[in-house]
Amino acid sequence: MRTHRIAAIPGDGIGKEVIAAGVKVLEVCAQQDGSFQLEFEHFDWGSDYYKAHGVMMPADGLATLKPFDAIYFGAVGAPDVPDHITLWGLRLAICQPFDQYANVRPTRILAGIQSPLRNVTAADLDWVIVRENSEGEYAGQGGRSHRGLPEEVATEVSIFTRAGVRRIMRFAFGVAQSRPRKLLTVVTKSNAQRNGMVMWDEIAAEVAREFPDVTWDKMLVDAMTVRMTMKPRSIDTVVATNLHADILSDLAAALAGSMGIAPTANLNPERAFPSMFEPIHGSAFDITGKGIANPIGSFWTAQMMLEHLGEHAAAARLMEAIEVVTANPAMHPPDLGGTATTLAVRDAVCEALRRQEKNGAGSSGGGEQVEVGA
Ligand code: IPM
Ligand code: MG
Repeated sequence: MRTHRIAAIPGDGIGKEVIAAGVKVLEVCAQQDGSFQLEFEHFDWGSDYYKAHGVMMPADGLATLKPFDAIYFGAVGAPDVPDHITLWGLRLAICQPFDQYANVRPTRILAGIQSPLRNVTAADLDWVIVRENSEGEYAGQGGRSHRGLPEEVATEVSIFTRAGVRRIMRFAFGVAQSRPRKLLTVVTKSNAQRNGMVMWDEIAAEVAREFPDVTWDKMLVDAMTVRMTMKPRSIDTVVATNLHADILSDLAAALAGSMGIAPTANLNPERAFPSMFEPIHGSAFDITGKGIANPIGSFWTAQMMLEHLGEHAAAARLMEAIEVVTANPAMHPPDLGGTATTLAVRDAVCEALRRQEKNGAGSSGGGEQVEVGA
């Protein structure tokens, strides 16, 4: 039997609730598949750990994580700890040293979910956003001088390297090539940002020659928000910088119905380090502890993790079970306008998985699957 070792880091806020639900769903998924098992180790790192120890994770945290096959991550962020500390102390402290440079964010309108856009259905919106995840605006370069004085100055320098841009571009063209429409949109702001972004455009044109079967176009990021809203069907795969894609992926999640649904993979495509999988919604302190967080984002995230681990049949079954449940409005939590609880949704997905087993269904897959990772 194949064994995959997973480091679970629920982190802060609703991260704890949705990861607990996701672990349960993954266990049922593995049980029912029968050909692999998942070994979870849980880590209590995050803002509570910070308040007790002064750091978000222990000094040897990365060495501890390195041997795992994947990391299943909840969220970071607490009302009483500055956001840059929680982010740089845990999430980026894992993403950057583990060279998880490809952040993949699929967006679809799942069964039973409605887009806030008029007349837009599942057939109109099926995207994958590829976010550069190691440099750009999140490089951490810059500083502050003359603090507190009127002449105080702060710099936040974006870093774009030829190697960094080329590898994310190759990855994104590869994702586009793996999808039926073979269509990629390269997003920049190369009119105003005349150095790094112009290099992005040049490298895109170079890499495009390696993928002659992929059709590609370029968009400025501001115009891209209009296109996503007005012509969602014209888009398939998107590649953008760290910050631009951060913003576009929130818009994408909202247009697909809710932030509570959207998943992410932080991939090290070369597999030199474990990759990390997380729902994109964040810690959501306003609803923490109420038991109403939508766990669908963490389940879809788990599906991406199964794909990455090579468990394609189980991933397909999980996606199918997720959509059986989202199709039922009684199973919609408050972010989707319903009253379902996290545990009710979890149990419904587990039940849908078990029912597949009884019927021998599932292996044919649940709609289009996004193949991520090399
Ligand atoms: C995301 C989040 C993070 C980011 C936050 C929590 C810093 O918004 O994953 O999109 O900006 O990377
Ligand atoms: Mg974001």
